Amino acid sequence: MEIDRVNAVSDDWLALRRALWPETTEAGHRADMAAMVADPARYAVFFSRDDRGVVGFAEASLRTDYVNGCLQSPVVFLEGIFVAPQARRRGVAAALIEAVGDWARGKGVRELASDALIDNLDSHAMHRAVGFSETDRVVYFRKEI
Ligand SMILES: CC(C)(COP(=O)(O)OP(=O)(O)OC[C@H]1O[C@@H](n2cnc3c(N)ncnc32)[C@H](O)[C@@H]1OP(=O)(O)O)[C@@H](O)C(=O)NCCC(=O)NCCS
Repeated sequence: MEIDRVNAVSDDWLALRRALWPETTEAGHRADMAAMVADPARYAVFFSRDDRGVVGFAEASLRTDYVNGCLQSPVVFLEGIFVAPQARRRGVAAALIEAVGDWARGKGVRELASDALIDNLDSHAMHRAVGFSETDRVVYFRKEI
């Protein structure tokens, strides 16, 4: 398995994003990817490859706003992570998060933050297994005005 940093928009990246965030339009994904590659000081994207190609990705951002549960600022936030079903439970997510951690440490950042939906128990288990600890649970609200 190889981990490499992504520096260009690609169909592989689009396919992984669509799998993780199917509610976002293709135009939305393309705009997000373009913004990320245009600002490599703030965003980092990593692919995991095996002999059949790209099997997973992680996106991270440097966050200077307050991030729930964190003790320092800035922190690096794991914005998204996805591993193709056939490649799961082989350490791909752990390796991607290690790469995110290396990128963060290289910036002098000492905390990684992340989130997961309340019912995504696989993700909770993965986060704990790679060293995250749970800090908070929140409920989002909206109101038409
Ligand atoms: C969550 C996800 C990224 C994990 O990827 P992965 O490559 O399978 O994870 P790893 O193999 O690196 O797992 C590392 C450890 O995390 C834990 N873990 C991972 N998946 C788990 C699961 N489904 N159930 C229980 N524990 C799990 C295990 O302790 C595992 O080590 P082990 O396999 O030696 O027991 C993957 O299941 C996925 O893409 N899910 C759909 C997208 C998603 O939910 N993304 C996260 C959004 S917040």
